[in-house]
Amino acid sequence: ISRSFSSSAVRQSVIKNVTIIGGGLMGAGIAQVAASTGHNVVMVDQNDEILSKSKANIAKSLQRVVKKKFAEKPQEGEAFVSDVLNRLQTNTDAVDSVKNTDLVIEAIVENLDVKKQLFAALDKAAPQSAIFASNTSSIPIKEIAVSTSRLDRFGGLHYFNPVPMMKLVEVIRIPETSDETFNSLLSFGKAMGKVTVNCKDTPGFIVNRLLVPYMMEAVRMVERGEATPQDIDTAMKLGAGYPMGPFELTDYVGLDTCKFIMDGWSQKFPDNPLFAQSPLLNKYVAEGKLGNKVGEGFYKTKK
Ligand code: 3HC
Repeated sequence: ISRSFSSSAVRQSVIKNVTIIGGGLMGAGIAQVAASTGHNVVMVDQNDEILSKSKANIAKSLQRVVKKKFAEKPQEGEAFVSDVLNRLQTNTDAVDSVKNTDLVIEAIVENLDVKKQLFAALDKAAPQSAIFASNTSSIPIKEIAVSTSRLDRFGGLHYFNPVPMMKLVEVIRIPETSDETFNSLLSFGKAMGKVTVNCKDTPGFIVNRLLVPYMMEAVRMVERGEATPQDIDTAMKLGAGYPMGPFELTDYVGLDTCKFIMDGWSQKFPDNPLFAQSPLLNKYVAEGKLGNKVGEGFYKTKK
């Protein structure tokens, strides 16, 4: 990790080697974009089967990107894809993967104990200078960070699905995050080609704090029998210019993910009506209708 001074003379580290823990939808997307923007990436998951599926998804997504970016120059496109894939290593051993890392981004299951165990182990193995970040969408960053001895080098980097297309990353600081760490995270977000916004460690940060209650109110409209999912989706796409309606978006994000976020919030803030439980969402999740990833949510979709 090398120290440098930006034009505003704020101390920060230049991040080159990145470890992504978790090869799911988000982890693979982050790994893809980090490798596409010249970083050396190690993507970690529990076994080679998961990792080869993640790599296949990355290759598919890269083809979609290249088809546009190199439309006139297919050979350069091929060279780009192979460069990106060369910068993308995989590993099934998280502790081994962080020995030379500058930045760890965790994108594993939304379970506080599992995240804390992971970070406690990584804290012992990673270089002193390495920065740790979580892509959690619902757990306070501070509650995860306390498992390490590097609270000053800890923050949140929250990405959006599909990571290659969504231009935003939310950069989160806890009170202990140093200015140097925060500046490094902001610069890294920009180096990934994203627009960054700053946010404190508050529930849902900016996007989910507004988006999830909106999606849930759409579900409540259906519960109250006011309109159908189809009409609500059409209304929000054509009347408010959203690329997807709230039900299409819930299917896309995953009903289980939405429920998980709502469960956490309704437990912590039982008096906030924005965070109230939805019987209809709970019923769908109980029936296994989790959205596009299983082929059915509010809509039947091709898997
Ligand atoms: N990789 C690469 N390219 C992709 C892609 C992927 N995974 N997904 C879509 N694309 C590209 C396509 O190739 C296509 O390119 P083209 O226009 O040159 O053909 C372009 O995106 C548009 O795709 P489609 O025509 O298939 O469909 P849309 O026009 O509807 O766009 C979308 C797809 C970009 C996903 C758009 O619908 C959208 O922006 N939806 C809203 C997504 C959103 O709100 N995400 C945030 C969810 S919240 C979250 O993630 C937080 C978490 O904590 C819960």
